[in-house]
Amino acid sequence: MSSEATLRERAKARGIEFGAALSADPLREDSNYWNTARTEFTSVTTSSELKMGPLRPSRKTYDFTDADAIVDFGNEYDMTVRGHTLVWHTQKPDWFQEWDYSGDQVREFLRDHIRTVAGRYGTRIDAWDVVNEGVHEDGSMRESVWYEGMGPEYIEKAFEWADEVTDSDLFYNDYDLPTEPEKADAVYDLLADFLDRGVPVDGVGLQLHGIGSQADPEDVAETVQRFRDLGLDVHLTELDVAYEVGSVPDDPLAAQAEYYRDLVRACVDAGVDSITTWGVNDGNSWVRDFYKAEERFTIDPLLFDRKCDPKPAYYAVKEALAEE
Ligand code: XIL
Repeated sequence: MSSEATLRERAKARGIEFGAALSADPLREDSNYWNTARTEFTSVTTSSELKMGPLRPSRKTYDFTDADAIVDFGNEYDMTVRGHTLVWHTQKPDWFQEWDYSGDQVREFLRDHIRTVAGRYGTRIDAWDVVNEGVHEDGSMRESVWYEGMGPEYIEKAFEWADEVTDSDLFYNDYDLPTEPEKADAVYDLLADFLDRGVPVDGVGLQLHGIGSQADPEDVAETVQRFRDLGLDVHLTELDVAYEVGSVPDDPLAAQAEYYRDLVRACVDAGVDSITTWGVNDGNSWVRDFYKAEERFTIDPLLFDRKCDPKPAYYAVKEALAEE
């Protein structure tokens, strides 16, 4: 394969999905963004379009327009589609926060939501992040409207309800598992128990937003190995590599490339078969909006720059994928 091969071609040759989280607006409006997503990646994830808030403008209505734009794009161009996410403690609709509900109502509401959304897409979505961020750093369950209404059982119920309506692979997704041992142990115990009891979980997603500090690739690979030994698939679902202002390396692009190379190499060796950066290019990265108020971080976390030109990290990832 020539050194000019795209990331998509390299990933396919290696048998790895290499994806990006997409946003509907730039996909519609920015041809550079569209082209880069189309030619360089094998997989797409919805960044916010399938979250409950954006999806449900009022209690009785759904608006699938933006989610469909991304799912249709992925389906049309033969990409794997990851749906993110059915259950999360945040990005809920405003009207929902104000609604005064009983435990039974929460249960019925969540069941309807999951069945409607996962059922609607069926096989058009290959993998779902069913539950996002259900466990705290100290290993305790995160308080949320779901937890308060249904107790810890809400997690397994979410997997069961999704499984009733779709054959997609069902993932539990969370951050900091390689760096927070108590959290990793709690997620491990939770999923091991699910597997023992036949709760339908297929995999675990490691977010890996390296914003300000990055997890050691060897620690990530160990975490991958540990969950794979349980019998689960492990995907790297939300990669970012950004530096804190004041501790930016001398050559940030080279350091970023080295980190991406080491991480991809270590994790593919450990059996990861799906890796997703949390965005296509630096100009549309969520870090830009989300951390705007703080201005603490550099906002160039991805493989393509603001003009969608490839960065050293892009070539480094291709190199790592070329090694056997
Ligand atoms: C982010 C989106 O990219 C932003 O557009 C939104 O404003 C906030 O959420 N972990 C997750 C993702 O699981 O859903 C988050 O996505 C980033 C952190």
